[in-house]
Amino acid sequence: MVKYQAVRGTKDILPAEALHFQKLESTARSLFGRFGFDEIRTPTFETVDLFQRSLGETTDVVQKEMYVFEDRGGRKLSLRPEGTAGVVRAFIEHHLSQNAPVCKLFYIGQMFRAERPQAGRYREFWQIGGEYFGNASPVADAEVLLFLHTLYNRLGLIEARLKINSLGDANCRPQYIQALQEFLKTVQNPPLCEDCLRRIDKNPLRALDCKIDGPRIEKDVPQINTYWCEPCRKHFDTVRHLLDKAGAKYEVSPRLVRGLDYYTRTVFEVTTTLLGAQDALAAGGRYDRLVKELGGPDVPAIGFALGSERTIEALKVAHADQPARKEPDALRFFVAALGETAIPTAFQVLALLRTSPELAAKKVLVEGGFFDKKLGGQLTIAARMGSTHCVILGDDEVQKGDITLKDLRTSKQESLKQKDLLSHLLSLATPA
Ligand code: HAM
Repeated sequence: MVKYQAVRGTKDILPAEALHFQKLESTARSLFGRFGFDEIRTPTFETVDLFQRSLGETTDVVQKEMYVFEDRGGRKLSLRPEGTAGVVRAFIEHHLSQNAPVCKLFYIGQMFRAERPQAGRYREFWQIGGEYFGNASPVADAEVLLFLHTLYNRLGLIEARLKINSLGDANCRPQYIQALQEFLKTVQNPPLCEDCLRRIDKNPLRALDCKIDGPRIEKDVPQINTYWCEPCRKHFDTVRHLLDKAGAKYEVSPRLVRGLDYYTRTVFEVTTTLLGAQDALAAGGRYDRLVKELGGPDVPAIGFALGSERTIEALKVAHADQPARKEPDALRFFVAALGETAIPTAFQVLALLRTSPELAAKKVLVEGGFFDKKLGGQLTIAARMGSTHCVILGDDEVQKGDITLKDLRTSKQESLKQKDLLSHLLSLATPA
């Protein structure tokens, strides 16, 4: 027999792990609400061209990591390696800039990158991201950064470090690029890796975050902050000032560039020392030209995305990983049937309790439905499910309209009228 396994670089998120995702996602969702972001869900695949145009032809993501395929109509498509390109496409396609002065969107979903799998690096992974359109002011940068700062604090990951930098703009970046190219051409012993050499002319910034060359040229490489034009410097200083005012801690990291081409001015990363090599929990930046470059209006934007798996892993290492718990204090009722003829009524009771909005409001869980087993077997299942009470319907009782309620914690039993069951259970679920 063939043994099927999850494909390399992908993984199943089993129920216990899913609780961690739920906790992270619900914390993020509620904070997005506070920061005025609305949810958007975009397709998991788009045209290859969209990603090439937005992320940049010479980036690692586009050159090496996209899952590209042709559909039956011969269209060249790719699973999304990140969320920004699709959100920008949707923003333009649905004319969202016309609805309000600004537009803030968040998304939670899977991304796909054909990277070499290792701890914290997957081929399918989850991102939670936010994109803020229509505000060129440094206040928007500070807001997005404050969101990340607050989120990691709320999650309890105080170790998370926020690093910020500015990549300048179309006015000052070309001078920096030229200086960088000149520097890169002088690197010897050993020379730059093939990728960096190939990209010197088209995209020299990539050398700074190249896994091979980045660390060894770090010390001598020209720094971008000495090339910023006055408006870029002012923008960056204001972002810093606003963050200081809001009490958000950050570090200025002059060598921080990003692996995607769409950024201008502010870029940032949230890193941790808890995870080893894959230390980036979240990242993002401003991309003022992208909407226009993709055929939309001239709308500035800034955004970020966090990696859910890495964030959860860091929370576990930091012991700050209290997942959303399955209501440990709520009562759990279990419905059992004793005898063949009791089954329809037992099912009716199970349906009544399960669909009762009053019990749902009290977070009471209702299980059962193993009616073809002996009563002992049903009670064993009830115990394994952590049930607190068992509602037992026997053939005779059903005839008389009675029901037995057993408290599985004390083994005490009582007999009730079927019609009183719901109100009795509700009274049990209501603390005295
Ligand atoms: P990114 O830096 O490519 O940015 O990814 C953001 C985060 O996704 C990373 O910091 C990391 O936590 C997680 N991540 C990336 N690749 C993997 C992987 N193979 N396995 C597990 N986690 C991973 C973006 O994607 C941009 N779209 C962010 C953005 C939004 N910029 C502006 N708006």
